[in-house]
Amino acid sequence: MVLQVKEPTIPITEIEQSAFCQTEDELKTKTLEEEFSAGVRWQKLPISYLRKTPEELDDRILYARAKLGDQLVVLGHHYQRNAIIRFADYRGDSFKLSQLAASQDRAEYIVFCGVHFMAETADILSARHQQVILPNLTAGCSMADMAHVDDVLDCWEELEEALDGYGGITPITYMNSTAAIKALCGRNEGIVCTSSNARATFEWAFERSERVLFLPDQHLGRNTAVQLGVGLDEMVVWNPFKPLGGHTPDELRRARVVLWQGHCSVHTRFTVEQIERARSSVPGVNVMVHPECTLDVVQAADVNGSTELITRTISDAPAGSAWAVGTEVSLVNRIAQQNPDKTVFCLDSVVCPCSTMYRIHPAYLSWVLDGLNEGVVVNRISVDERTAGEARVALDRMLSIT
Ligand code: 13P
Ligand code: SF4
Repeated sequence: MVLQVKEPTIPITEIEQSAFCQTEDELKTKTLEEEFSAGVRWQKLPISYLRKTPEELDDRILYARAKLGDQLVVLGHHYQRNAIIRFADYRGDSFKLSQLAASQDRAEYIVFCGVHFMAETADILSARHQQVILPNLTAGCSMADMAHVDDVLDCWEELEEALDGYGGITPITYMNSTAAIKALCGRNEGIVCTSSNARATFEWAFERSERVLFLPDQHLGRNTAVQLGVGLDEMVVWNPFKPLGGHTPDELRRARVVLWQGHCSVHTRFTVEQIERARSSVPGVNVMVHPECTLDVVQAADVNGSTELITRTISDAPAGSAWAVGTEVSLVNRIAQQNPDKTVFCLDSVVCPCSTMYRIHPAYLSWVLDGLNEGVVVNRISVDERTAGEARVALDRMLSIT
């Protein structure tokens, strides 16, 4: 094996991540033409959609949706803006939505309002006759883009060689990764996880081998391993741009958890100082964060959990309770609107939505639905059969243990 030094690269989705950050309270949907001024890449669509007002688009989407009837199901991730989530037949976190994609085979078209890896997963788990559509193809995920499959294949090969004769390693990939990486896990006795079941998948993996390779979010991996009693000195971070991830073979042999050097730029904005500020300004406030936040933030919070858990916990909480939340702001604002008897606010005072989730603008949803009514499938997400088969093995392992 030739160990190479690679030129470090930053995914374009990461560079674009703060494009929609603003200091106003409300994220108001404007015409797509006005939103283009944020300066991110947008998928081209017919010009007639650019200037339609949000109200015109609402009417058009309602009409197109009614016309498609049972042929269509719209899935919406919790981070979608209100102007989109209101059209979702089902909403949820990435785990719930993947279960839904696997369990319902009625509709011919699944329009996935979320990001690329979620649509890929829906394609893998759905029935053969179903077609999955992502309204805007530039809706990727900067974290998923931090794990390029070629770098992950090199990592796996280097790890297997360094650990040969020193015990095994099980790959776990977070749902936020490409189908090709899920397939690598399927081929190598590994598993997929989401933020709802990361702990169960670590336990599953440790029953099978003494080490875990966790991709691509180092924070979810570290937070979960710490919960299971793994020491920080038993974990290493794999830098894909350095030979052997920046470690000696001995360091890798001593590690119980190898964490890929990836992160979510939305969740790493949250800090312990923000938590302290929330606690001093709202006495008695409960602090709840997503496990993609850094370890110090997760440890300073009262609770951490997936978007589904955050939503459910606050809706079940007693009236009058106060919640400072460390997750994507479109969801936090929605939870606040749906719980007027509670105080709910985002830990970060800058309003910074996930810029790729935010790229599902109603103009795109309208465009793809109109296409379906005209018999044209735009933006189909289709995973090749071999990759899908191998990825499905790793996804089925996840679905069977949780
Ligand atoms: P959930 O697994 O909680 O849906 O989160 C997905 C995600 O992209 C969080 O950033
Ligand atoms: Fe990816 Fe972070 Fe956006 Fe989730 S919030 S889709 S992890 S960039």
